[in-house]
Amino acid sequence: MRIPWASWLLAACMGTTINASNILEVDLVFPRNETYAPTEWFPVVFAVQNPERARYLNLGLEYILWNLDDSNDVRPFTHELRWANWTDKNPYLAHEFTGMFRNEGRWKVTWTLMWESCNEYAFENHRDVRNMISNMTSWSTWFTTQSTAPKVDLVAATANKTCLGQYGMAINVTDKTMQVPQGVTWSGGGYTNDTCVVVASSTQTPRPDPCRVDIDKTIVASMEASLKNRLCNWLDPPADCPKDDKNAGQQLAVAGVSCLLAAFGALGFFLM
Ligand SMILES: *[C@@H]1O[C@H](CO)[C@@H](O)[C@H](O)[C@H]1NC(C)=O
Ligand SMILES: *[C@@H]1O[C@H](CO)[C@@H](O)[C@H](O)[C@H]1NC(C)=O
Ligand SMILES: *[C@@H]1O[C@H](CO)[C@@H](O)[C@H](O)[C@H]1NC(C)=O
Ligand SMILES: *[C@@H]1O[C@H](CO)[C@@H](O)[C@H](O)[C@H]1NC(C)=O
Ligand SMILES: *[C@@H]1O[C@H](CO)[C@@H](O)[C@H](O)[C@H]1NC(C)=O
Ligand SMILES: *[C@@H]1O[C@H](CO)[C@@H](O)[C@H](O)[C@H]1NC(C)=O
Repeated sequence: MRIPWASWLLAACMGTTINASNILEVDLVFPRNETYAPTEWFPVVFAVQNPERARYLNLGLEYILWNLDDSNDVRPFTHELRWANWTDKNPYLAHEFTGMFRNEGRWKVTWTLMWESCNEYAFENHRDVRNMISNMTSWSTWFTTQSTAPKVDLVAATANKTCLGQYGMAINVTDKTMQVPQGVTWSGGGYTNDTCVVVASSTQTPRPDPCRVDIDKTIVASMEASLKNRLCNWLDPPADCPKDDKNAGQQLAVAGVSCLLAAFGALGFFLM
């Protein structure tokens, strides 16, 4: 079911967000429950607010795009976050462009966030546990593409400070980290030096607020430049690519904004 176009771009450049606090928040920023004009390359954008809180959580983020009018048209995506530099930018943006929405239709995005934290009581009391505390949550958003609708505009879409808050997850990540005991199998340990973090068990978690995330013109430009870079390095590049194919990527990267370079440097491209 995988498509060649599902490659990961992680751009991370940004302005305002939540203040330093315990609260890690992951939101689907775009699309929303709205109607957009069909577009050749459609962005799907997630934001991690307060991302330094994600460092020891082994976050996993997956989503599926569904065509509600054609049950065979289903595409899964995964964001590889283990290599993310969580201290670089706040919020941390993970995005992908997909060619799935070139026609009118009705669509669903189903996304799942997974995280793993210390089993504080068991680890402290040397209980015979083999596992971390694993947790996950899933959300869905529906949207429509229609020729008469407004064009996709990430800047406009994220400019409004009031929006319905049903697109995200807030996790209360404490300051307490622990060494994962021997005998506990944890794939995340390889990325954190076997350090885990305690997630607060308090039942009241704050309400997520994806509307705090602004995507400005600079970010959009960097996303588009990285998309173009990728297209130009494809077998069948668009007509407006720089002539010298070999250096096309480099030229575009140099022309791009510095945060784009940072994203390349830190993360590179993952092509699937
Ligand atoms: C999406 O928005 C429409 C119109 O605003 C509303 O009727 C519908 O209930 C919303 N659907 C979801 C799943 O939020
Ligand atoms: C992560 O980003 C910070 C801030 O930009 C930088 O100082 C640090 O070197 C980066 N870490 C890695 C491993 O790239
Ligand atoms: C999973 O996370 C939610 C929200 O933080 C929390 O209410 C729930 O208790 C957690 N489940 C486990 C097994 O830790
Ligand atoms: C911002 O969102 C509110 C509530 O959803 C809505 O009433 C308002 O029209 C929106 N403003 C703009 C400029 O989109
Ligand atoms: C893991 O330990 C190594 C060596 O002590 C250190 O360089 C690296 O930054 C640590 N990684 C993390 C995620 O703490
Ligand atoms: C997060 O958890 C800590 C420890 O349980 C608690 O003191 C704090 O009030 C919680 N924060 C929020 C915003 O719920």
